[in-house]
Amino acid sequence: MKLPYAEPYKIKMVERIENRTPEQRRALIAEAKYNLFNLKSSDVYIDMLTDSGTGAMSDAQWSEMMLGDESYAGASSYYKMKDAIKTILGFDYFLPTHQGRAAENVFFSAILKEGDIVPGNSHFDTTKGHIEFRKAKAVDCTCEQAFHTETVDDFKGNVNVDKMEAVIKENPGKVPVIIMTVTCNTTGGQPVSMENLRAVRKLADKYEIPLFYDSARFAENAYFIKTREKGYENKTIREIVREMYSMADGMTMSSKKDAIVNMGGFLAMRDPKIFQKAMVFSIMNEGYVTYGGMSGRDMNALAQGLKEGTEFDYLESRIKQVESLGNQLVEYGIPIQRPTGGHAVFIDAKKFLPNLPKEEFQAQTLALELYLEGGVRGVEVGAILADRDPVTRENRYPELEFVRLAIPRRVYTSNHIDYTAAVIKNVFDRREEIKHGYKIVKEAPILRHFTVELSPVK
Ligand code: F0G
Repeated sequence: MKLPYAEPYKIKMVERIENRTPEQRRALIAEAKYNLFNLKSSDVYIDMLTDSGTGAMSDAQWSEMMLGDESYAGASSYYKMKDAIKTILGFDYFLPTHQGRAAENVFFSAILKEGDIVPGNSHFDTTKGHIEFRKAKAVDCTCEQAFHTETVDDFKGNVNVDKMEAVIKENPGKVPVIIMTVTCNTTGGQPVSMENLRAVRKLADKYEIPLFYDSARFAENAYFIKTREKGYENKTIREIVREMYSMADGMTMSSKKDAIVNMGGFLAMRDPKIFQKAMVFSIMNEGYVTYGGMSGRDMNALAQGLKEGTEFDYLESRIKQVESLGNQLVEYGIPIQRPTGGHAVFIDAKKFLPNLPKEEFQAQTLALELYLEGGVRGVEVGAILADRDPVTRENRYPELEFVRLAIPRRVYTSNHIDYTAAVIKNVFDRREEIKHGYKIVKEAPILRHFTVELSPVK
């Protein structure tokens, strides 16, 4: 018998969680104005809102916390982080920041101006937010395959290189950087192939444009290259990562994902000129060069996390767990983005609730139903997240309406996964009864999904 995969760790400490009754959940979600971000985490049983900052650190990381050097300048923790970044990713220059969007803030402050164009593969919402806030434009060049959820394709995070080239040609002198997001969160945690990265690098060289990776889940991307792309089966994750990053001029990183820490990020690059420019914004907004937005202990845990996050056995158990949720849903006939991504299962809400009009927010409605059914908290990645058009102020209805169930790293057991699959199946079985969605009562001018208030249409 082929032995199944099992986690390469055991549990040393546990945290109690409990479920509320269906009646309690109904009252709690109304009180939260039908916004899952407003719930207390103690009222959530299985929390799949995000895989960001929600992972479980290892004993080695906790030990590193005790060794943190909290000196203002030149702390040993800074040098530990510098070593890990150089060894694993190959960059000489870096700036610690308090999280990923802070790295984006520092970077875009240094290189972006009004009217600029930033092509990429479905930029994450904070990335897009930082671009649009500066009156520049993020242009999505994601490959067509990504938008057909039920068609299985190995690298749905890829860009259409011809489309990207057309954007660059149409906007001479206006493209200060290309951003590739690995894996591509917005299209379902889908990976980018080495071949596609190579093609984008060629384009970057041809037009002399710097290429940066939004790297939150870079190690998961490397795992998919190893397991799906020809020629990489016998390479280690670290070798693949080094090859990926040999083609990048720099990266922004939310360390709350693949570096398995609860808080932290960084901006890294090759060019000392970009570093000098970015440093000014880092000192102004984050902190002095050798700590940015981070304490010494957190830099230590991050350095250790980068090592653990790029080990094959860890990645295999992680991604197989996500896959097991996806496989159960596929077995039940539930429409999801296929194949399952690295960090999450993305349910196709348009196909799940086809009778609901888009104006009533299909994905948000489904996310709320999952909470009501079993205390599972996912997140809407659809029209509410897509915000309004910055110019016309009209609602933007994206091609894909997803409910994302993001799985925290090293946190939940297979039983939690099976429970979640059953909750989704129960909602699927009664989907015909879900006839009405929600309307917006109150919203912020940008990144509205965090604070939006809703009410049922009927
Ligand atoms: N880039 C990507 C691809 C992300 O997924 C995120 C965060 C960021 C940048 C920003 O990083 O949160 O550390 O400031 N994604 C989280 C999520 C919030 O739930 O997917 P951050």
